Amino acid sequence: MNRSLKIGMFGFGCVGQGLYDILENNEGFRAELVKICVKDRTKPRKLPSRYFTFDKEDILENPEINLVVELINDADEAYHIVTTALKKGKIVVTANKKMLAEHLAELVALQEQYDTALLYEASACGSIPIIRNLEEYYDNELLFAVSGIMNGSSNYILSKIFNENLSYHTALKQAQDLGFAETDPTLDVGGFDALNKLCILAVHAYGTLIRPEDAFNYGIQSLSVHDIQFAKEKGYKIKLLASVRKTQENAITAFVIPQFIKKEDYLYNVENEYNGVTVEAAFADRQFFMGKGAGGHPTGSAVLSDISASRYQYKYEYKKLAQHHNIRYTTEHQLEVYLRYHDEEDLELLRFTEISEKYSGKNFNYVIGIVSLKHLTHIKAELASRNIFIAATGQKLNQPQELVYNHATAAKELVP
Ligand SMILES: NC(=O)c1ccc[n+]([C@@H]2O[C@H](COP(=O)([O-])OP(=O)(O)OC[C@H]3O[C@@H](n4cnc5c(N)ncnc54)[C@H](OP(=O)(O)O)[C@@H]3O)[C@@H](O)[C@H]2O)c1
Repeated sequence: MNRSLKIGMFGFGCVGQGLYDILENNEGFRAELVKICVKDRTKPRKLPSRYFTFDKEDILENPEINLVVELINDADEAYHIVTTALKKGKIVVTANKKMLAEHLAELVALQEQYDTALLYEASACGSIPIIRNLEEYYDNELLFAVSGIMNGSSNYILSKIFNENLSYHTALKQAQDLGFAETDPTLDVGGFDALNKLCILAVHAYGTLIRPEDAFNYGIQSLSVHDIQFAKEKGYKIKLLASVRKTQENAITAFVIPQFIKKEDYLYNVENEYNGVTVEAAFADRQFFMGKGAGGHPTGSAVLSDISASRYQYKYEYKKLAQHHNIRYTTEHQLEVYLRYHDEEDLELLRFTEISEKYSGKNFNYVIGIVSLKHLTHIKAELASRNIFIAATGQKLNQPQELVYNHATAAKELVP
């Protein structure tokens, strides 16, 4: 059934205005924007004042409004808005990955309890329709990994550093001016935003709920000219990668870390605010999605897609959460990493189990070796506070054979 939608929107910033432009230029789309709730009474607005309210109850308590679009930059307030709207039976569309990742279990339960829908395609990788693909297209597919570049502003910064020799701070300022960066840029450059997205994707890819604080994230804040030079000499780029992958038959791991990327990798040419996601599957094999991961219009287009789906009562069924409740999250995994360090204490902190390369020079020192993800997760706060830099080499270690795509295995699995 094609239901008529009356929309109450929270937030009229980068994404809210992007969505408004799209709705304005979409003649065939029938939905009425009833009210927009914003915060700052002194800000000039590009729409007449009758559209706006500063009182959230004007939307939440309005029985005429059947769909709430939540696009504010305050995760705690967003949680209040979203849960209140769901409890009133309203459909909710949100882009707030931090709020989602922190409360996903409760939000899944609320949808069931109040028989309504919460859609959030815009929360992971902007305009790339990855959530609905994981939910619908790969609903019965055995997935080995979902990984890629999931934060537009850190990718913008890295692209400007590698391609245009811009300094980190100039590139960050540009990303902020263009509206790609979160209000608090640490969320982007510290890998927190990518981790939040990964936690959202893990539910749809594997049916596993991961709390962001239980997973490893390390960002690009302490990237130095030495690391850039090291990568360039080898013909690599550095990208901030987020990965959720199977490690054993019934276990997945998830982490965010900068990684050296070779020219042959699809991700090598994913630049600026673009995101790129690779899905490795048993039968579909490897598939690659690329699209703009940030910005008002690309993100607004994902919000529009959810609004449009709501007209037909679309809701996530969380099929894998229902099917595979036995896939657990683990940090029992090993990574080969490059560490640029200052002194022996830094080196000891990482507890390398194997070192394959070591260099000490006048300007900097590095080692390449194997570390435990479990240990990195324990020390993640301390790592972020040191003047060191860590990047994964991308080397796959001890990957169980059955978890690597293999035509012969796949064919065998097809035989009843
Ligand atoms: N920007 C992107 O590229 C992007 C991409 C994907 C997802 N997202 C997500 O989309 C959401 C919005 O991001 P944005 O970049 O559009 O943020 P933004 O440009 O900073 O705009 C935030 C908006 O929220 C409003 N607001 C803040 N607190 C409020 C409250 N308590 N009640 C009502 N309104 C409130 C602000 O009101 P005033 O106008 O009065 O200040 C402003 O209009 C965030 O969750 C973000 O993570 C953004």
